Amino acid sequence: MNIQQNISLKPYNTFGIEAKAKEFVVINSLEELSILCAAFNLSERKILILGGGSNVLLTQDFDGMVIKINIKGIEIIKETNEHVWVKAMAGEVWHEFVMYCIDKNLAGLENLSLIPGCVGAAPMQNIGAYGAEIKNTFESLDAIEIETAEIKTFSNVACKFGYRESIFKNEAKNKYIIASVTFKLNKNPNFNTSYGAIQQTLEKQGIKELNVKVISDAVIAIRESKLPNPKELGNAGSFFKNPEIPQAQFESLKLQYPDIVGYPTQNGNIKIAAGWLIEACGWKGKIVGNTGSHKHQALVLVNYGNATGSEIVNLAMEIQKSVKAKFGITIQPEVNII
Ligand code: FAD
Ligand code: EPU
Repeated sequence: MNIQQNISLKPYNTFGIEAKAKEFVVINSLEELSILCAAFNLSERKILILGGGSNVLLTQDFDGMVIKINIKGIEIIKETNEHVWVKAMAGEVWHEFVMYCIDKNLAGLENLSLIPGCVGAAPMQNIGAYGAEIKNTFESLDAIEIETAEIKTFSNVACKFGYRESIFKNEAKNKYIIASVTFKLNKNPNFNTSYGAIQQTLEKQGIKELNVKVISDAVIAIRESKLPNPKELGNAGSFFKNPEIPQAQFESLKLQYPDIVGYPTQNGNIKIAAGWLIEACGWKGKIVGNTGSHKHQALVLVNYGNATGSEIVNLAMEIQKSVKAKFGITIQPEVNII
């Protein structure tokens, strides 16, 4: 294990922000992770766990130890006539793991194709896209408790998954390092094509017979047409969550703004498209210094090259203020601001 000093984090975050880590270590195995926890007294240190760095915004140099999780491995651990349980180590690249499952014709993750980042971060915010979330197929995860260096197993219920939420963003924040995640996938799929854009893309492509591969391909095509590739333009996906408001508030906003976009949630509220709110405030495609709101997706804030984390935070605050002033709705960041 090689602990390096004063390392640039620019290659390790998809926003492409320059910030230095006082200490930086890449962890390649469970053994290294256990040694690190036990020998370096991590519970007493300032640490930042990183996977692919695709959901963080660095606002300053990190005056502590950055731990990049690179533990690899995928294993089928159980199989019945209907299901297959697949365990992936935290450092596996999420999309490569999804492709592994699709190659084996296992269903459940195809709608989540092409989400950047690593397997270990996926439970943090219960990643979701195109009508699916990992909680739909998540079986359990193993994590090292930082204080004791012991492995703890979390079931689906124990993770307290919600929309872009889990226990690891709340009461268990900074207490665990996720080491592996197990998914229960289907041999006999029940495809989820309810998201309008998937249906339209499949129709356009003339696809009649569904399988995991064609759904994955459709999702990839939609994502590539809408979302900026972080290799070309720094970003961390949606900067804000889509806010939920009561039905009555939605009805009254709809009288004033008939085009407002919202979808009913299971608890009777309405989830509003934050991208619509931001666009309606005039931000879409606007460039502010080195940053801006993306021209095809207002919810995605981008780094045009030399932005600092603070510049992006300032833009986010301006956007938040204007959405609040126009619609009375407070939009909350989805990205982890460090
Ligand atoms: P990181 O950014 O490295 O870390 C995110 C958080 O998790 C940090 O707080 C970090 O400390 C913590 N963490 C990371 N690994 C571990 C670990 N092993 N143990 C404990 N804590 C850990 N997200 C969606 O949900 N849906 C989308 O459709 C989506 N689309 C995106 C599109 C683009 C272009 C981009 C850039 C991002 C998108 N995202 C999306 C956000 C992001 O891809 C996900 O949140 C992803 O899961 C982050 O993974 P990561 O490995 O990069 O996490
Ligand atoms: N819209 C606008 N203007 C915009 C962007 C969106 O009016 O600039 C409206 C459109 O009506 C559009 C609707 O918002 O139909 C929804 O847009 P989109 O399908 O792009 O989805 P989203 O709600 O903006 C969410 C997730 C994405 C996920 C997609 C697909 C959040 C915060 N974001 O975006 O996740 O990929 O749905 O399911 O829930 C991420 O978390 O980083 C992320 C990219």
